[in-house]
Amino acid sequence: MAGPDEERAELLTRAASEVRACTLCRLHEGRNLAVPGVGPLDAAVFLIGEAPGREEDARGEPFVGSAGKILDKALAAARLPRRSVFITNVVKCRPPANRGPRSDEIETCRPYLMTQIAAVRPKVLVTLGSTALKGLLGTGVELKDARGKTLAFGDIPVLPTYHPAAILYNRRLEPTLRSDLRKAAKVGAAKRARIRSGPPRKGKPTKPTASSGAVVVGPGERILLLRREDEDIWCLPKGTVEPGESLEQTAVREVQEETGLRVRLLRPIHEVRYSFFWPPGGVNYDKTVTYFLAEPIGGRLEPEPGFDEVRWVSREEAMRLLHWKNDKEVVDRAFQAMQTLRR
Ligand code: URA
Repeated sequence: MAGPDEERAELLTRAASEVRACTLCRLHEGRNLAVPGVGPLDAAVFLIGEAPGREEDARGEPFVGSAGKILDKALAAARLPRRSVFITNVVKCRPPANRGPRSDEIETCRPYLMTQIAAVRPKVLVTLGSTALKGLLGTGVELKDARGKTLAFGDIPVLPTYHPAAILYNRRLEPTLRSDLRKAAKVGAAKRARIRSGPPRKGKPTKPTASSGAVVVGPGERILLLRREDEDIWCLPKGTVEPGESLEQTAVREVQEETGLRVRLLRPIHEVRYSFFWPPGGVNYDKTVTYFLAEPIGGRLEPEPGFDEVRWVSREEAMRLLHWKNDKEVVDRAFQAMQTLRR
């Protein structure tokens, strides 16, 4: 009997063949090629668009026209290789004159999407634009309310974002599309992160890497900790410095992405340095993490997918909960810094 992976692969291939031959709705009449979707069976990130346009209809592939170019740039900025993600649409054939797909067309096409999601079993679904969001979750959800939140389709997190074509009309949306995809990349990576780093290995190349984070101090001198879902450990919010970003910008962005809170940085508190071997890259990383003291100025507590809890804790609780010795030292420094600020 075929194993589960072969069964999933077969399901995906069969769905694509059925889409190519489908005559279930009126859209088949005007199409050149149906566009089932592309991507690996094990894609962690699954993108859903609206419907094929002219280029896609001519080539049988999703997002290869002008919207595709914007998507490609956003994927690259999020360090999500296009070949690593699954890309499809709620409707697999081009609607005439580029009109939006009708609700009966979306309904008729829906079983294909369901089969694709069931076969790929992605770690996160990203809906591009309002039609994709409604096509997946139903007509009651509005993009303006849902964007920036994490919704769910069964047990799979859903990140609703803008359609790349919207950026053609409003360039100011582009950073948001990129940061939403970066979030998707993180969720995809975090959930799969069963690969463990280990002690540095002799004879392996060493790469430097920089991260930045914060000890966020709220009322009653409580500080913000996060629990990582994959390893069940408590830690401080932090993340990798993106190209062109200052350490301060990274700290502010990471705290917002990981905890939902907007913060103001008060002062740098400590720099932590450690090395580890990362099996997938075959390299040792020499990592520097700069921490800042910060205070909340807005936002709402909501842990990023990949973390299952974000909590305000006292200094004593922090010392008890934090997993890494380095993090405890950072917290000590944060409390010393607070005393100096008070003087
Ligand atoms: N727009 C979409 O929604 N999907 C495509 O495949 C191309 C453009």
